[in-house]
Amino acid sequence: MKCVTCRGPAIIDIRRHNSNFCAEHFIEQCQRQVRKAIDEFSMFEKSDKILVAVSGGKDSLAIWDLLLDLGYSVDGLYIGLGIGDYSDTSLEYARAYAKTRSLHLIEVDVPSTFGFDIPNGSRAAKRVPCSACGLSKRHLFDEEAVKGGYDVLVTGHNLDDEAAVLFGNTLHWHTEYLGRQLPVLPARDGFPKKVKPLVRLAERETAAYCIVKGIDYLIDECPMAAGNKHLGYKNALNEIETASPGAKHSFYFGFLDRAAEFFATEASIDREGLGACASCGAPTTSETCAFCRLVQRAGGQLPERTGVNAVSVDLGPTRSGVVQ
Ligand code: AMP
Ligand code: FES
Ligand code: ZN
Ligand code: ZN
Repeated sequence: MKCVTCRGPAIIDIRRHNSNFCAEHFIEQCQRQVRKAIDEFSMFEKSDKILVAVSGGKDSLAIWDLLLDLGYSVDGLYIGLGIGDYSDTSLEYARAYAKTRSLHLIEVDVPSTFGFDIPNGSRAAKRVPCSACGLSKRHLFDEEAVKGGYDVLVTGHNLDDEAAVLFGNTLHWHTEYLGRQLPVLPARDGFPKKVKPLVRLAERETAAYCIVKGIDYLIDECPMAAGNKHLGYKNALNEIETASPGAKHSFYFGFLDRAAEFFATEASIDREGLGACASCGAPTTSETCAFCRLVQRAGGQLPERTGVNAVSVDLGPTRSGVVQ
């Protein structure tokens, strides 16, 4: 197996590109793919203030590292969800990476700040753990990005993640979600701009990137996620990809090129009638936002109203309940 660029010994084969790479040219390939996603979807500029949500896993650490190497200035945001050892260890990985490059990492600890953890809180609120977890993360990502004056919030969703979510949304024809399943969601109505610069890289490639660059990451998946539908969709797509390399890429990018626009109107319908949450000030279509309702039901303390998010919430349509 030889590197397509230098003909030296290759360390990885990427079947959907019909290419093999040595370590050096693999890193360049990852950088090229990320740069291409940033440019193609106008994600951000060098002058932008960027915040990356870091879980301590391979994807978010890889994208933090890639963006820094590409010359962007990027802070990190870690959300502690109180999922036992899993959360403790993931924080250690996020902190260790930040330390090696002297980076700023914002930490928000849900149990000590809001008085509930995901395992117990989701039970008390009668929600599936991953749904309470996803809702909390999205709310806190938005809040910290707006509060810190960041131009854009980056997440480490990769091609496998996006193809699996698209697969689930298509299977169930969640048309309101399909219209919003884009690599860029513009800032609006008090929500920050959100982008996914890893959409051109597969999970296996972000893992290989971390290994080659010597970045330690938490390998374990979230223990609460075991057996969830998303993992089932990922496994199904992996089988399809093995039989037809490139299937995930053409499924996801074909959707963006040829189908997403047809769902755009529906996606905006449930964004109407937006106001500020009576408790925390976040934009919401209800009296109290979904996060504050979760905190109440989970038996925790409601956040103080900061007014930060309330500044621009009188504009009408917004997003609610995005799947990721
Ligand atoms: P997941 O929903 O676990 O697949 O994670 C998707 C992306 O969300 C990751 O790549 C991170 O960018 C972000 N993320 C997940 N968990 C956390 C966390 N605890 N703190 C900060 N960001 C996170
Ligand atoms: Fe956080 Fe499942 S509980 S991802
Ligand atoms: Zn090479
Ligand atoms: Zn609220």
